[in-house]
Amino acid sequence: MPSSDTLSLLVRYGPWAVITGASSGIGYQYARELARQGLNVVLVARRQNVLDRLAGELRDLCGVKVRVIAVDLSTPTAVTEISRLTDDLNIGLLINNAGAAQYGSFLSDGEDYHTCVLNVNVVSPIALARSLGGKMSKRRRGGIIFTSSTAAALVPYFATYAASKSCISNFARLLRFELRPFGIDVLCVEPGFVETEMGLVMVNDIDIRKLTPCSRPVSAERVAKEALARLGVASEFTPGSIPRLSNMFVRILPTRLRLRLFSWQIRKVMTPEMRDELVPAERQTE
Ligand SMILES: NC(=O)c1ccc[n+]([C@@H]2O[C@H](COP(=O)([O-])OP(=O)(O)OC[C@H]3O[C@@H](n4cnc5c(N)ncnc54)[C@H](OP(=O)(O)O)[C@@H]3O)[C@@H](O)[C@H]2O)c1
Repeated sequence: MPSSDTLSLLVRYGPWAVITGASSGIGYQYARELARQGLNVVLVARRQNVLDRLAGELRDLCGVKVRVIAVDLSTPTAVTEISRLTDDLNIGLLINNAGAAQYGSFLSDGEDYHTCVLNVNVVSPIALARSLGGKMSKRRRGGIIFTSSTAAALVPYFATYAASKSCISNFARLLRFELRPFGIDVLCVEPGFVETEMGLVMVNDIDIRKLTPCSRPVSAERVAKEALARLGVASEFTPGSIPRLSNMFVRILPTRLRLRLFSWQIRKVMTPEMRDELVPAERQTE
């Protein structure tokens, strides 16, 4: 028997939800939670075999319909492909969750890599919101979640990633204002550290959880559940009370101090070789 929050999510955003980055981490938990609450789900990511396995699990456990779309969101045709393969579905909820990370010296990664981060984190989510949001507006109801990051508060050595998240956070704020008259709820989720394939606990043999109280990870399950509960209520949200307070605190710091603080933290988990890449050779002995 569905509970009242089940009914509410189904009524507000059902019967179909699209989740990008559903093959692992936070996206996987969104898919499980939505299926548990009775929504049919479209699972999007690159790894077809992982998505197929999850689809079978959700059909068996929750009795919902599941469609798998294996695409690379860094490619220019990805969103057109998703729109084409979902054209027959009544989609009320879009969870833009897939993300690509970049960490280390900006100059040491190839140009293609930075373009890929921007395509996955910014270009595709905006194009998907445009495509599926258009249909939601005709029904006068729907929901869109954007997965940003606390890194949107400007984290050095994550320049492209942090800038992409900053862009998507601002985009979500603006879109929320614009789509509200059409009955579409928009939420920007800014998680702190989450233990997933991307949010590694061990980096270069250093346990990130021990660095600061704020670096204790929140579970992917908690991020998904709390975000779904905030959709239609808040405009932006950081799951977990410590990451939320820390995110509020860093944003009131002067930019210069904020950059120094993050830079000090991040250098701690870099190898000596990575740290060397951050300064020109002639200054390394200074
Ligand atoms: N973990 C953290 O600490 C943390 C903190 C703040 C924000 N976030 C954000 O949370 C979101 C989810 O990340 P996560 O932590 O759950 O990491 P994750 O477990 O690595 O999940 C990333 C998902 O994105 C998909 N993906 C990556 N590149 C893709 C591409 N080019 N095309 C299609 N799908 C792609 C991956 O699937 P395939 O590999 O199968 O394609 C995977 O399903 C991301 O937007 C991330 O920036 C994470």
